[in-house]
Amino acid sequence: MSTEFAQSVAEGLSADEKWLSSRYFYDARGDELFQAIMASPEYYLTDCEFEILREQGDAIAAVLLEAGPCEFIELGSGDGQKVGHLLDALHRRADDWVYRPVDISANSLELLAANLSPSRPWLRLDPIAGDYHEVLEGFTPGEARRVFLFLGSNLGNFGEHGSIDFLREVRAAMAPGDALLIGLDLKKAPEIVLAAYNDAAGHTRDFNLNLLARINRELGADFDLGQFEHRPEYNPETGAARSFLVSRQQQSVNIAALGQTFVFAAGERIFMEVSQKYDAAMIKALCAQSGFQPGAAFYDRKGWFTDQVWLASELAADAAEKTET
Ligand code: AVI
Repeated sequence: MSTEFAQSVAEGLSADEKWLSSRYFYDARGDELFQAIMASPEYYLTDCEFEILREQGDAIAAVLLEAGPCEFIELGSGDGQKVGHLLDALHRRADDWVYRPVDISANSLELLAANLSPSRPWLRLDPIAGDYHEVLEGFTPGEARRVFLFLGSNLGNFGEHGSIDFLREVRAAMAPGDALLIGLDLKKAPEIVLAAYNDAAGHTRDFNLNLLARINRELGADFDLGQFEHRPEYNPETGAARSFLVSRQQQSVNIAALGQTFVFAAGERIFMEVSQKYDAAMIKALCAQSGFQPGAAFYDRKGWFTDQVWLASELAADAAEKTET
């Protein structure tokens, strides 16, 4: 049993407005369900970003390789399906770079190598298995020219403060001249966003419920999954898409590892995840507040998703210090 997991569950379920952390969604079953979500017709994010990297990969590669040899460090690389188009475009332009995917799951990194390497004998692949935060702390700025990749709008799951803290951690591992290629999902019509988080096949529902199943299995709890309903919400003004599990009736749940029982009122909600959607003003503010300067921006044809190059500069480092004080 992971004590960090147990502590997070205890804290979240004891709060006035109950919550669980979406960082625990990704056990083996959660990984499978996330793959199914990405393949579902409603989950447009993957297709949009795929299109950008496939169709504009050469333009992105030109910007990223402008300053010469570098290492590409992808944070949370998963199985590497999407990045292939970008790697191919980078290869068409130069061959003095290394690709260093970072993922907490050694299994995912093996899968990534199996997906990417056979058809790319030229790829210099140097995977790093570990937690983002620890890996970032291990980098000394300036020891190599670095381009970080943080795709898939993964930033959207960090919450407002978590996002800026995370981006500042990335910035702290960078020297002037280094760059970040970040994928961000854009604000759009509510019905499109809501469908993406409520697919007809029920993969997103199962993805959320799987966290209750994980608590049952790893912490000896007795959640009855049938007694919780998946409910996504989207606020088009703030751009926050939030997922909840709603208790269908008054019920109590015992969690043996915590020696605690939690009571749920009928209709009471557990906040499960935020998937933030952005507009231009929000992106500009995030970029400045975390110590970057905007570079080139790329959009899919529908204008639903963006991949942007943010640059670490002396000026940006000063700005980061100023916003911290
Ligand atoms: C990983 N992340 C960007 C996904 C998202 O869209 O927020 C996770 C997800 N949650 C439900 N569906 C997909």
